[in-house]
Amino acid sequence: MMLHLLSQTKGGVGKSTISNHILPSLTGSSLIIEIDNNNVSSIYSSSSKIRGVTLKTDKKSIEQAIVEAELNSLDSNIIIDAGGGDDSLKVIEALMAAKLECTVWLPITPDAEALTNLQHIVQKVGKTYPINLVFSRFSKLKEDYYFIFGDETQSANLQFLAPFANILQVPIKNIFSKAKQRATTVWDLATIFGDKDPQMLKKEWQNEYANATDKVAAKELYMQKRAVMWLQDEAQEYLGAVKNSFQSTKDFIKTIQS
Ligand SMILES: Nc1ncnc2c1ncn2[C@@H]1O[C@H](COP(=O)(O)OP(=O)(O)O)[C@@H](O)[C@H]1O
Ligand SMILES: [Mg+2]
Repeated sequence: MMLHLLSQTKGGVGKSTISNHILPSLTGSSLIIEIDNNNVSSIYSSSSKIRGVTLKTDKKSIEQAIVEAELNSLDSNIIIDAGGGDDSLKVIEALMAAKLECTVWLPITPDAEALTNLQHIVQKVGKTYPINLVFSRFSKLKEDYYFIFGDETQSANLQFLAPFANILQVPIKNIFSKAKQRATTVWDLATIFGDKDPQMLKKEWQNEYANATDKVAAKELYMQKRAVMWLQDEAQEYLGAVKNSFQSTKDFIKTIQS
């Protein structure tokens, strides 16, 4: 069992997005545990890739909830989506207390508070767990990077990367909204047609059209299928780029310096 924790005290940085859409395919996990006081129902009901569970903590401490969940007894990989605010820190404390091993994924968005929020997690984790820094919801990596870490004339700003083992880049993209509209994940979209060869499928659909008597309806159907194919292409391309961006901090520094 490998545990992956999404942690960041700031809300809206992409913890849930990365937990549900990105990390399952990257880490081979299908179980997403969301730590929450509210009863948040799963919005990915059509997904065949992930299963979401909410660990309610209103009547007990996070520490107790983690112990009772007996995560060690599960043999699959698990993603924990820690809530924002203090919950993100409490989950780290709880995992440490339970002596559970984990990898921490720490998303930051290009905003003025990014550094402060980053430090909360870095200090709490210390040297206990490896931390992967996730550049989340950015558009131009270099510009956004310098916005967060300071002027590009200061080479010292690279010191901020020292605590991080690896870097992942999750650029801003409306593919997440498209997935959500279908109550599913980007990984599901990327595999809509499974192993079927897109070229073969297109030929099949063209044949269906050629043999149809009602050409108007057949054309409509063909266009619909093509649109779904484009969606699959888009999701595959995006997910592929995100996966390819996963690199050691050392390699990332070379990119940012070039
Ligand atoms: N890379 C991205 N591209 C586009 N929208 C994103 C991206 N990451 C997050 N979002 C959007 O930003 C909002 C907040 O993200 P969310 O994952 O819920 O943050 P958190 O769980 O940290 O509070 C959501 O509406 C989500 O769809
Ligand atoms: Mg969230």
